[in-house]
Formats: sequence, structure tokens, C-alpha cells
Amino acid sequence: MKPGKLTLPELAALKSRGEKIVMVTAYDAPGARLAEEAGIDILLVGDTAGMVVLGHEGTTVPVTMEEMLFLTRTVARVAKRPLVVGDMPFGSYHVSDEDAIRNAIRFVKEAGADVVKLEGAGPSLSRVQAIVSAGIPVMGHVGLTPQSATMLGGFKTQGKTAAAAVQLVDDALALEQAGCFAVVLEAVPSPVAAEITRRLEVPTIGIGAGPDCDGQVLVYHDLLGLSEGHLPRFVKRYANLSREIRDALEAYAHDVRTGAFPEEQHTYEMPAEELEEFEKTMLMPTASRASDQATKRSSSPTKT
Ligand code: KIV
Repeated sequence: MKPGKLTLPELAALKSRGEKIVMVTAYDAPGARLAEEAGIDILLVGDTAGMVVLGHEGTTVPVTMEEMLFLTRTVARVAKRPLVVGDMPFGSYHVSDEDAIRNAIRFVKEAGADVVKLEGAGPSLSRVQAIVSAGIPVMGHVGLTPQSATMLGGFKTQGKTAAAAVQLVDDALALEQAGCFAVVLEAVPSPVAAEITRRLEVPTIGIGAGPDCDGQVLVYHDLLGLSEGHLPRFVKRYANLSREIRDALEAYAHDVRTGAFPEEQHTYEMPAEELEEFEKTMLMPTASRASDQATKRSSSPTKT
């Protein structure tokens, strides 16, 4: 592995060599650091942050530019090798190409993102072209695009009819044509994702899109078992951190309430003579304590 930031030509070379690309979402410095130490190629500061970090239920739509910039800045600050993708939130590229360029520039300039991602084809194609023309690489995203989940009839698999599958292939090709350096395929049948992956020169990154994509992405909280409740079938859990964290917090609460924490090893001491002096002083009435302290201060040598 070459040192330094993963470059887009190196990413493209992974596809040519048939080596899988690994992407995970990241929203904070510890997560980014651990992902980098684990050898992850791409960190997506996804607007899924709305659901897994910011407490919005089942929607990414309310996430703001300021929130995304804050999270991206945090991840970019620590990520050395992985490519940092700033996910453009709903409303940040929907109004005009100019608006899209302005917001993409903010991701790169103010938050340190290497590249940006946006959802959809159709009206998003001119946004991709505009942002790429401004010198910022763009990752596309088709299939289930959560920002338009209401229009898609909910969080549902896309491309299940032949006509819808053909449309997905056309959309992915159009995104490549518009200048995307990679395309995320979310919740699409495996044969459709495989066909798109064969037809595209740029890498595809799948999430619920089967094994034939050039890479895979999962949401950090889902794969680590930090998300609870219903999870999509495409999630594989590699740990159950919710349970571990809850157990640890319960043990802490129990120890505080029973006095088992803190123990001596968690406390600080002071020199015996200072403690003796302190205890003597505390026995004095408040008024004489103040004048005693003033006398000590005036008679103690001053530092030069
Ligand atoms: O926002 C996000 O985390 C995403 C991934 C699910 C691909 O877009």
C-alpha cells in the first residue's frame, strides 16, 4: 500500500485489479481513527448521521449543511489515508447548479472533505457536472436514495421490475458520463448491481446490492451493533456494542450508588504536612482563617 491519501487513480486501479473497495460511514474522530487503523479505504460522512447520531427517526431529510460540515470536519481532521466523502444533505444541491457548487466547495474548503456524494440521477446529473467542473470529485448514489424515500414509497428495494432495472442501469451510466468517479448502489437486486458493475468503468460501491459490486459500504452503527430496532436485511452485524456499552454503564451506575467506585487507585493524594495544615485551617472560624491566609501570603517569598 502506498503511503498518503488514497488517490482516485488508485481507487480505479482497485477495480481494474478486481480488488474489493471497503467503505464505512464515520461521524466522529474515534470512529474515523479506528476505521483507518482497520485499513478501510473510504470514510463516508453520511447523512445517515441524522438517524444514527442526531436522533431523527427514519429520515435523513432534516440534516443541515452546518451539521454535515461539523461532522465532516471532525472525520477529516484525523483521517490520513482513507478518502473522506462529504455527503451533501437534502436541500444543499436541489435548487440550482450554482447552489450545489457553493455547498460542495464548503465541504472541501471548510470541512476538509476530499470529495462529495449526492443522490439520484435525472436532475442531479447537471449538479454532478457542475461540481466536477469546479474541480471537486463526485460520488453518485442510485437505487434506494433515502433523501427521496417518500417519493420512492418508503425505504424499499429498487429496480425489481425489468423496466425499473433498465432505468437503474441507465441512471448509473449517466452518472458516470456526468463525471462521477464512483457510484453507490443501494438496495437493488444483485443481478442488476452486477450488470451495472460490468458496464461501468468507475467502481460501484454496494449496500444491499449483492457481492458483485466493486466495493461494499455499511453504516458504522449498524455493523457494530450500535443501532437497535429493525435493521435492513443487508446489514451484517460484526459486534454487539450496544449490549457492551449498556452493561458497562449499568455497572458504573451500580458502583457509584453502592460506593464501589471510586477506589483508592482512582483518587489523588496531597503531602501529609499540607493536609495537616489544611485540616487545622478548616477548624478556624472563617474571619480569622482569612486574615491568617493573608498574613501567610504576604510573608511568603515572591517568585521572580
Ligand atoms: O448516508 C449514508 O450513510 C449513505 C450510505 C448508506 C450509502 O448514503
